[in-house]
Amino acid sequence: MSTNTTSSPAPIVKRRADYQQPDFLIQTVDIHFELESHETIVTCSTTVTRNGKHDKPLVLDGEQLKLLSVKLDGKEQSDYLQDETSLTIHTLKNEFELTIQNQIDPKGNSSLEGLYQSSGAFCTQCEAEGFRKITYFLDRPDVLAKYQVTIVGDKTLYPYLLSNGNKVDSGELADNKHWVKWSDPFNKPCYLFALVAGDFDLLEDTFVTASNRSVKLELFVDKGKAERGYHALESLKKSMAWDETEFGLEYDLDIYMIVAVDFFNMGAMENKGLNVFNSKFVLANEQTATDEDFFNIEAVIGHEYFHNWTGNRITCRDWFQLSLKEGLTVFRDQQFSNDMSSPIVNRIKNVRIMREHQFAEDASAMSHPIRPDEVIEMNNFYTVTVYDKGAEVIRMLHTLLGKQGFRAGMDLYFQRFDGQAVTCDDFVQAMQDANNKDLTQFRRWYSQSGTPQVTVSDTYEQETGLYKIEFSQQTKPTFDQAEKLNLVIPMRFSLIDQNHNQQLNSVIEEQIVELTEQTQVIEFSNQSSKPVLSLLHDFCAPVKLNYAYSRSDLVALMLKSPDDFTRWDASQRVFSQCILQLADQGEITKTQSIKDTVAVFDQVINDANLDLALKTEMLTIPSFESLFQQVESVDVEQLRKSRLQLLEAFADTYQTQWFDLYKSIQIPKYEYTVEQVKQRKIRNLVLKYLAASQHQHAQSIIEQQFLTADNMTDSIGALAAAQLGDLAEFDSLMQQFEQKWQADPLVLDKWFALQANTDRADILARLELLMGHAQYTINNPNRVRALIGSFAFYNVSGFHNIDGSGYKFVADYLIKLNDINPQVASRMITPLIQWQKVDVKRQALMQHQLMRIGDTPGLSKDLYEKITKSLP
Ligand code: ARG
Ligand code: ZN
Repeated sequence: MSTNTTSSPAPIVKRRADYQQPDFLIQTVDIHFELESHETIVTCSTTVTRNGKHDKPLVLDGEQLKLLSVKLDGKEQSDYLQDETSLTIHTLKNEFELTIQNQIDPKGNSSLEGLYQSSGAFCTQCEAEGFRKITYFLDRPDVLAKYQVTIVGDKTLYPYLLSNGNKVDSGELADNKHWVKWSDPFNKPCYLFALVAGDFDLLEDTFVTASNRSVKLELFVDKGKAERGYHALESLKKSMAWDETEFGLEYDLDIYMIVAVDFFNMGAMENKGLNVFNSKFVLANEQTATDEDFFNIEAVIGHEYFHNWTGNRITCRDWFQLSLKEGLTVFRDQQFSNDMSSPIVNRIKNVRIMREHQFAEDASAMSHPIRPDEVIEMNNFYTVTVYDKGAEVIRMLHTLLGKQGFRAGMDLYFQRFDGQAVTCDDFVQAMQDANNKDLTQFRRWYSQSGTPQVTVSDTYEQETGLYKIEFSQQTKPTFDQAEKLNLVIPMRFSLIDQNHNQQLNSVIEEQIVELTEQTQVIEFSNQSSKPVLSLLHDFCAPVKLNYAYSRSDLVALMLKSPDDFTRWDASQRVFSQCILQLADQGEITKTQSIKDTVAVFDQVINDANLDLALKTEMLTIPSFESLFQQVESVDVEQLRKSRLQLLEAFADTYQTQWFDLYKSIQIPKYEYTVEQVKQRKIRNLVLKYLAASQHQHAQSIIEQQFLTADNMTDSIGALAAAQLGDLAEFDSLMQQFEQKWQADPLVLDKWFALQANTDRADILARLELLMGHAQYTINNPNRVRALIGSFAFYNVSGFHNIDGSGYKFVADYLIKLNDINPQVASRMITPLIQWQKVDVKRQALMQHQLMRIGDTPGLSKDLYEKITKSLP
């Protein structure tokens, strides 16, 4: 990209090492809103104190604000300096009251950051730096204040006027207006501020806390959608109870509100006492939502609720510390999900995110430690690294300290830091002090990026019975960091005795070894034969594991490992080994290795005692994305074909078994229960295999399931099967689905996604057509993610088309989206910046498109940061 073709200066890099305390603090905020779609007036009075002895001016953050007046201790000021992003006020006072009045345009705000309108309702998103789009302020998380909020708005359009904390007053005004005043007794940073105004259906409930306080629960959803809110409300009550029993943490206000909005950049937001959610993570009934939606709703409701303590009561000192609250809260929501549903399915879901997305981020130009050192646009760092790898790091602490030690550390953390804005180091120190364990080396997980590789080799001496395992670790240089140090890697494993391998009691009790050196050797004596090594139990560390497993080792692990994760992982290795080798084999060897691979699964399919959920996972062929991460460079088209080839052979071989399995599972009326979810999942998996194998009854079974399904999981299951099998009726079923759901955009998103990731030659023409669909709009992130995101992330043949048309399509779209919603554009550029592993021809095509995007006039900071990093 050419530099400085636009008028704005190159965006500034902020560094963690440059952290300085704020020059001023704000004690109280009294903020007043006159809501109008295009001309909202904000009047914000704050009490400000100088922090320390200095004579620096007060510099407030502010963007896209029309300043109306500045008053200092009641006196109108004119001695201030304004630029695009700040307001500087010169004063030598140490304490003063500052009143700023400004005007904003919520309806014209398509970035969905700050105050904006979502299908008529006003709402806010202030994390990370959105409050500065509402008023001039010290927009940083270490400035904590008490807030009072007054909202004035039209009574008919906005019967509900909501903000954080407790409603303390309200009244009527002339011109059909009314007002409500809110007061939040807790200190908070401005990123936790929220305002919502609109007309909703309201669901109410109560929760009685452990100490017998009654909390009012209120869920606000679009008019007419009330009956889709019950699952979210139930999930909230479960979350509240869970945090009490697991961590002794009670809710602290008398009211907890959740609002579901249609236009939202992310999943949800933990604003104090007033969560704002993407409606996708609230609304569900069995007709409109899949089992996976039900699961995700419970998880996200939990996540935001758990933030009340890990995020709100104790917050981040600066945004480089984001993982302090996000890694920890993801870990907490994962533990919660474990307790609510199938732990193994849940764990596999977590691991897939790591392997398919986080490892990809590590391997890309965006690689960063869970606590980044340099940031241009903070919104670019709400990443799988900060969130999911962050959660894995917390999980390792949990493994190293044990459940009780971890809890002791959490207790100390709250005791020490409640009400403060702190760092990741503060958190680790609390863990360290509560457990008397030196975590110095462990802290490297916070500063070092990249996916560590753990290589394991072993030897066995027949004569002495001595079995030796050598573990070594290595983290290769990443784009952001050349030097890598040894980490603390907890390795959970056990040995399976081959001689008695029919029985489970022949397993040597699980070991937890702390790998701290480059190489470590562990010995076991008295082994009557070479044991099978069962490694990386429960995915105990976010690493890649290299061990030369033989096929028979893997089979033994699949059938006998004491750890469910390792059993699943072994099955995935069997599939992966085969797929990754197919490309280099001649036809005869190919046929044979496919046959051998497929045969391995006979026992799994026929094992009547195997948990249905684990069975389903073991019978699932690894995704293209996870295969992609296992190799250094990839012929994408070849890999896609090899995977399909194995999938089809697998489907063919067990046709009869799939058919019988499908028929054997009869599910009564839909209920979202752990048992039924397992049953639907395996049925929909084998339905795909029936379709892929062109089973003579596949068509009719799929049609039958589609027509008689009493729930969305089975409707989508039928469509997905028809899509995979490339069956003739795919299009007509899709049409019926569209007819039925045309007025329901959230449901249609599933349909948009299926359309977008279908393997078809005319996919781009199809996408163009869909972009003109009555329900499609570039302004809604859910639509964009469903259509454009599904294509870019998951349509391998379309996106990676060797003629470059897929890359160009995505680039063209991002250029348009740059002006409308930079945050969403920046998320969607991910597949384009991950060019490092594809062949050189495709690399050049991808880079060319990145360059084109880079030349866009008015390029956002968000895209600028990713493009400059990723261009060679
Ligand atoms: N704190 C929110 C959550 O994880 C995420 C909000 C991030 N929003 C953003 N625009 N970066 O629950
Ligand atoms: Zn979060």
